[in-house]
Amino acid sequence: MLKAGKARVLDIGCGPGTWILEMAADYPHSSFIGLDNSPIFPSAIKPHNARFYQADVHNGLPFEDDTFDFVHQRFLALALKEEEWVPLIDEIVRVTKPGGYCEIMDCDFEIDKQGPVTESLIEAGKKNKVGSGKADVDWVGGWLGLVEVGRVRTCIQANGINPYMREKIEELLSDTKMFVDITVNEKVTPFGSWGGRWGELVSDGLRMSANSFKPIIQPTLGLSDEEYVKSVNHSVMQEMNEYRSETSMYRIYGKKKTTAVPTE
Ligand SMILES: C[S@@+](CC[C@H](N)C(=O)[O-])C[C@H]1O[C@@H](n2cnc3c(N)ncnc32)[C@H](O)[C@@H]1O
Repeated sequence: MLKAGKARVLDIGCGPGTWILEMAADYPHSSFIGLDNSPIFPSAIKPHNARFYQADVHNGLPFEDDTFDFVHQRFLALALKEEEWVPLIDEIVRVTKPGGYCEIMDCDFEIDKQGPVTESLIEAGKKNKVGSGKADVDWVGGWLGLVEVGRVRTCIQANGINPYMREKIEELLSDTKMFVDITVNEKVTPFGSWGGRWGELVSDGLRMSANSFKPIIQPTLGLSDEEYVKSVNHSVMQEMNEYRSETSMYRIYGKKKTTAVPTE
């Protein structure tokens, strides 16, 4: 469909527009729209077949019914309250053409095969009862959860965000009774250079986020500047290679039925 050209594609929560720009270059005969409530996407220089809109998904998607052949959404799990998923999926159904596709991608917020430093940081986060305080809240409750209590709780709990949406998304798509061939694809994602360039980029992202949270995390852990930098920038990154740490990313996609009304 994309290769054949003339497909209309929407990316919800497009951020800086990376996905749209790459897709627009790969499929020059199809047209791409990125939407985000924050105007961090390119406004001047962009390919002829890419456009961006500033809009908040909570106000609905600003498009006519049956507009898109493909609706894509990536990494919005921490941006949406659990209760906001149903209205958004209803909107996705509405703007997707019959026979068109919807794909939602996100990650599991867990670090598998942790080394001792990573584990101790996560445990420290849990002991501080950050995040939801749930023992199974791994990455969010521990690693990112090292961020002081109020912020994480506000984000994750009080705001009703559920970072573990994998099964729910599948269920919600299925509940609309408007999709067929719903498929879940999982991809194990490496942290560190043991996973090649991809692993390096993923661990860079994690390191940058840990460093940007430093002013808040550091006092919680009671580490000096030097100790913090050493543990996050060196020990964690080093042991992620040694232990071949990984996480999991998933894509859930389905095809909108060609019938006008929902059926079993
Ligand atoms: C983690 S980023 C993901 C960006 C992009 N999808 C990617 O994969 O690189 C989440 C994006 O969702 C956007 N976002 C969050 N809440 C939104 C809302 N209510 N309406 C539209 N966009 C929203 C944010 O501004 C941010 O750019």
